[in-house]
Amino acid sequence: MTQKVLVLFAHPSQHRSEVNKPLFDLAKQVEGVTTVDLYAEYPTFNINIDREQQRLLDHDVIIFQFPLYWYSTPAILKEWQDLVLEYTFAYGTDGNALVDKTFFCSLTAGGKAEAYRAEGYNHFTIRQLLYPLEQMASLTGMYYLPPFGLFGSRTALEEKRIDVHLAEWRTLLQRCVAGDINREHAAQFDKLNHYLGDDQFKMEAAK
Ligand SMILES: Cc1cc2nc3c(=O)[nH]c(=O)nc-3n(C[C@H](O)[C@H](O)[C@H](O)COP(=O)(O)O)c2cc1C
Repeated sequence: MTQKVLVLFAHPSQHRSEVNKPLFDLAKQVEGVTTVDLYAEYPTFNINIDREQQRLLDHDVIIFQFPLYWYSTPAILKEWQDLVLEYTFAYGTDGNALVDKTFFCSLTAGGKAEAYRAEGYNHFTIRQLLYPLEQMASLTGMYYLPPFGLFGSRTALEEKRIDVHLAEWRTLLQRCVAGDINREHAAQFDKLNHYLGDDQFKMEAAK
């Protein structure tokens, strides 16, 4: 069944963005996807709670898109959560507006993928570092999927890794719109990139 997909994008210095800007521009072109540039819409963090809650009600899949800043989201996404996910709307008595929606992050990180593990200098996997968001999804009844990520983002352009990532992003968004995501299967991975890879592998094998 067709799903309505909402991309909430947070990047405070887009003029310097090599990765998120093209990812966001691509998302704007995918039919069935609504895109919101939070820093452009709320430059003074004066978030319109009613508008944001209505956006959530109107969509089935909620995606936070951002560059990883200090192992978390840029500040506006925290402010957005603090204001929009109100008691009686998102949680608590009768707070069931988000129940059974799908939630995941699409992020870019300067650190390399190998750094995001127990033995690496970042010590934790990206999924572990995002536990507050995973628990936010749990408390509000959303179905949490692991993040879709690009690592080593500062060298992705010169290493020509952006186009592949953009193609995967398009596939992911289109499959979200088509309702073609096996949530139980996808939830088992550390990253959605692996879920997509796994599926592709299976399709190849079935040929
Ligand atoms: C304030 C700030 C904090 C950052 N914190 C992290 C971090 O915790 N982990 C990491 O891997 N990269 C970190 N980075 C690097 C960004 O994730 C990287 O610049 C971004 O993914 C590049 O995407 P863009 O080309 O769209 O700007 C940080 C960058 C800035 C400016």
